[in-house]
Amino acid sequence: MRALVVRRYGSPEVFESQQVPDPQPKAGELLIRVKAIGINFADLLQRMGIYPGTPKPPFIPGLEIAGVVEKVVEGSRPPEGEQFKPGDAVTALTNFNAYAEWVVAPARQVHRLPAGMKFDDGAAIPVNYLTAYHSMFTMSNLQPGDRILIHGAAGGVGIAAVQLARARGLVTFGTAGPAKQEYLRKMGVDHAIDYEKSDFVDVVRKFAPDGIEMVMDPIGGKSFSRSYKCLGPGGRLVVYGFSAAAGPGGKRSVLRGLTALLQTPRFSPLKLMGESISVIGVNLGRMQSRTALMRSELDEIFQMYSTGKIKPVISKTFPLDQGAVAHQYMHDRKNIGKVILSVK
Ligand SMILES: NC(=O)c1ccc[n+]([C@@H]2O[C@H](COP(=O)([O-])OP(=O)(O)OC[C@H]3O[C@@H](n4cnc5c(N)ncnc54)[C@H](OP(=O)(O)O)[C@@H]3O)[C@@H](O)[C@H]2O)c1
Repeated sequence: MRALVVRRYGSPEVFESQQVPDPQPKAGELLIRVKAIGINFADLLQRMGIYPGTPKPPFIPGLEIAGVVEKVVEGSRPPEGEQFKPGDAVTALTNFNAYAEWVVAPARQVHRLPAGMKFDDGAAIPVNYLTAYHSMFTMSNLQPGDRILIHGAAGGVGIAAVQLARARGLVTFGTAGPAKQEYLRKMGVDHAIDYEKSDFVDVVRKFAPDGIEMVMDPIGGKSFSRSYKCLGPGGRLVVYGFSAAAGPGGKRSVLRGLTALLQTPRFSPLKLMGESISVIGVNLGRMQSRTALMRSELDEIFQMYSTGKIKPVISKTFPLDQGAVAHQYMHDRKNIGKVILSVK
């Protein structure tokens, strides 16, 4: 099969389109013909060699796909519902190996697409919406009227969080660069913040002097302590990324990573107790073993899709062999929403 291989860690040109052996499903796994691949920021970090658990090159990156079941191996029954069969349209979370014409995935990480869902949407939903949903409703129990600050609000997870917040009656603060402000307003962010012009702590405190209920922060470094300053009693800071470590060109920079690490706050349990604030870490990769919870969250997300409450925003679709261009597009922060690789 054809696959996009990372030959060595580095900037996007390290990708090479290669013929590699077809993957062989084992007991409990399905073979899936890939139609669309969702690119996640994590893939950029995998390519750079700074994502935890990344194998040594050469390897195939990527975490999520949508496609059609080709082969069902014994023991690959889903945890509930009907057995998968060849021809089923599905989405799957993979552990690497997604940038390819074929993938194998454990049945517990494969979900049927709702009727009528296009493959691009099927590849755009799982990681972004599960991360936002799990952070906001499972871990933070947000209620209508609660106020949330969403960083990177025009990115993949950011737009998912804004849509989910609006569907549940939350008040939204969202940060993004200057070129994305109009889009934030168009999608209904209540307080759009251009981080180049305004200090987000000042904006939040202006509208909520006592502090807000939740911040979702994937930026890291000094951003974590600034986000903490936005919270009031009962507030939750969800930390789920470290974009600050990724430089603009997509090159590895030890200095940049180290600076962000040194700027990362240390939270004291006694201070957290005294202020009645929670700091919550979310890592979707680690949550895959919580099969029942992940499946019920995705069922709810698909239900919201089917009733028109959410709809992934696809910024651009590139053919699989243009993966390097697609990664550069994300490093250049040109995407509003999700970037997809399509497989013909
Ligand atoms: N923990 C988990 O399970 C989990 C799951 C999914 C994603 N994440 C994390 O969530 C974050 C967003 O992921 P995503 O897939 O939604 O990414 P995305 O679509 O590329 O959106 C990220 C946005 O962050 C901003 N940004 C900040 N620093 C950046 C940098 N160094 N390079 C490029 N953009 C930067 C950009 O918006 P502006 O132009 O407005 O600045 C960008 O559009 C990432 O940190 C990712 O690792 C974590």
